[in-house]
Amino acid sequence: MPENNECRRPIWMASGSETVQIIDQRKLPQQMRVSNLETVDDVIYAIVELMVRGAPLIGVTGAYGLYIAARNSKTDYPSDAYLTHEANRIKAARPTAINLEWAVDRTLDVVLSKQTAGERIESAKNMADLIGREEAENSRNIGLHGLALIKTISAEKGGGPVNILTHCNAGWLACIEHGTATAPIYAAHEHGIDLHVWVDETRPLNQGSRLTAWELGMKNVPHTVIADNTGGHLMQHQMVDMVIVGSDRSTLTGDVANKIGTYLKALAAHDNNVPFYVALPSSTFDRKIRDGVRDIPIELRDPDELRYIPGFEKTDENLLVPKHSPAANFAFDVTPARLVTGFITERGVCPAEESAIRRLLDEKS
Ligand code: MRU
Repeated sequence: MPENNECRRPIWMASGSETVQIIDQRKLPQQMRVSNLETVDDVIYAIVELMVRGAPLIGVTGAYGLYIAARNSKTDYPSDAYLTHEANRIKAARPTAINLEWAVDRTLDVVLSKQTAGERIESAKNMADLIGREEAENSRNIGLHGLALIKTISAEKGGGPVNILTHCNAGWLACIEHGTATAPIYAAHEHGIDLHVWVDETRPLNQGSRLTAWELGMKNVPHTVIADNTGGHLMQHQMVDMVIVGSDRSTLTGDVANKIGTYLKALAAHDNNVPFYVALPSSTFDRKIRDGVRDIPIELRDPDELRYIPGFEKTDENLLVPKHSPAANFAFDVTPARLVTGFITERGVCPAEESAIRRLLDEKS
């Protein structure tokens, strides 16, 4: 656990050195381990194995990966071909969150415009630092815009806690600070609004029960962990006032990719007239894809993450399924725009409609 219950960032440069360090999120909250990223292979491993995870954070990690690539170049001058090759390797680490591709490409663009080795290394580091600072600021602003929504719901309810359901972990561990889905929750809690969070456990890797519950607990936000399939029941009994989730990639037409199970929560919310909000920075919008269900790549992970008790050795004792039963581990799903009440971005709140999204993001059609 962080010293004095204090949150730090999930990625940082070690003071007085050039080493990139991360919180290894795999054993949280039981074990707080810090790992060094020394090589591009370390960066790729950390992203693939979910030592770092969550769309904004893997974007920032990818940008630092390019800095590490430039620094570790075997030739005196990190060439265009070498850097582009390393950038492609990093981008391939996880397919669904657009932030990875976005941050690496943005960093690569700047780096390739520099002429000397020193400038290339320095500009990669500066860009990674900048993207990290921007994402922290984005999350802070998402919190402020989402706070207004929670205030309104609290006033309309006229008493009792605002019950918010969230899925997976879209907190500071997944971002840099504040989080996306959790940023409005933290802001509302700080403003003294009575609220309570239903935390989906988020099988198979339990990002909700391990990480979101831990984060909320550190800030004394009232919360309850629930099994993944509980949300529909709660909504039928008026025990959820709003849903807020994060996103790994959303289209300008309003479709939302997020952790597997999000779509079912959106369906239940729609059926029960519960507002369903998606909190995300503008770096999570994919400007190229229009039909999210058809075109957003969905990561298929190792079936053993589902077959064995997560975090334990792969022994017969720790099997959750018959030894020879196969499993399929789809990591994300897509919620169509028609089920999304609105987006909470750093620029404000808008409905999940193309014209409104474009206006908010200042994107031409
Ligand atoms: O597989 P993960 O843990 O990286 O999945 C993370 C999520 O699905 C988050 O909800 C999403 O990245 C939004 S994070 C601000």
